[in-house]
Amino acid sequence: MNVQNSTRDIFKIIHNRRSIRKFTNKPISDEILETLLKAGVRAPFAAQLYSIIYTRNPEKMKIKCGVYSTTKLLMIFFVDARKIEKIITQRGYIYDYDDINLIWLAIQDATLVAENIILTAEALGLGSVLLGVVPNQWKEIKERFNVPPRVFPIVGLCIGYPEPSALMDVRPRYPLKYIAFKDQYKDLTEKEVQECMKVMDEGYLEQGYYIKQSAKIPLKKELGEDKIDYDKYSWSEHISRKLIQGRWGEKPFISLLRDCGFKLG
Ligand SMILES: Cc1cc2nc3c(=O)[nH]c(=O)nc-3n(C[C@H](O)[C@H](O)[C@H](O)COP(=O)(O)O)c2cc1C
Repeated sequence: MNVQNSTRDIFKIIHNRRSIRKFTNKPISDEILETLLKAGVRAPFAAQLYSIIYTRNPEKMKIKCGVYSTTKLLMIFFVDARKIEKIITQRGYIYDYDDINLIWLAIQDATLVAENIILTAEALGLGSVLLGVVPNQWKEIKERFNVPPRVFPIVGLCIGYPEPSALMDVRPRYPLKYIAFKDQYKDLTEKEVQECMKVMDEGYLEQGYYIKQSAKIPLKKELGEDKIDYDKYSWSEHISRKLIQGRWGEKPFISLLRDCGFKLG
């Protein structure tokens, strides 16, 4: 691998990136792996409150957090209070606070690293997709990867060489004027919200995004009959169903963190 030769224009990399969920059989070399990790840790950090566990072992990837079956490399990003506490102890101090501030910073540390890795992967011709349900599989991950207390998984990342048939167009975003506000916050009118929805919904429908992945979220019975078929099922419906149908795992998030040994007031 020659990293120099495979480095493309940064804007192309950013603007062409899209989540990839199907990968070829080509394995990921040690050199590529090291390149990804080294680029990852160059991200800015608040206090390096994170760790990464990576595996290329398909057996190890068999966890219930939605790892795509053709994944060649799985990374899991963790909030890690343990390492910093060891440093604090070595300095002769005691860390004994509510952990929310630490978790807040750690999530930012870890996600910036993940994004560096995502963009580096793209630059090297690899594809990737994040896995958001990882925290709900904390206990399984803990056992599988020998994770100690006060180290909690926040997101996973599947990586591999993209299967050409799985390459879709880049996905839409809200119009920039409804995301970035000059000088002061802008509360959107109903019409502007509809414009956001239209851009997103039409974009996802045109790509057949949900139908291709059979990714429709069933509507809970108490919310009424599900009258939306795949021809109308799009992003705003999907994200609404995802967010209103309660928590995603068996236990509330906060109790998972407490079970993992975090002190939360
Ligand atoms: C925190 C986070 C969690 C995500 N979790 C999942 C996931 O569990 N499964 C999945 O297929 N995609 C997941 N995604 C990918 C998003 O669905 C994807 O980024 C979004 O639809 C925009 O598409 P794009 O990445 O192709 O631009 C996740 C993305 C983020 C940022």
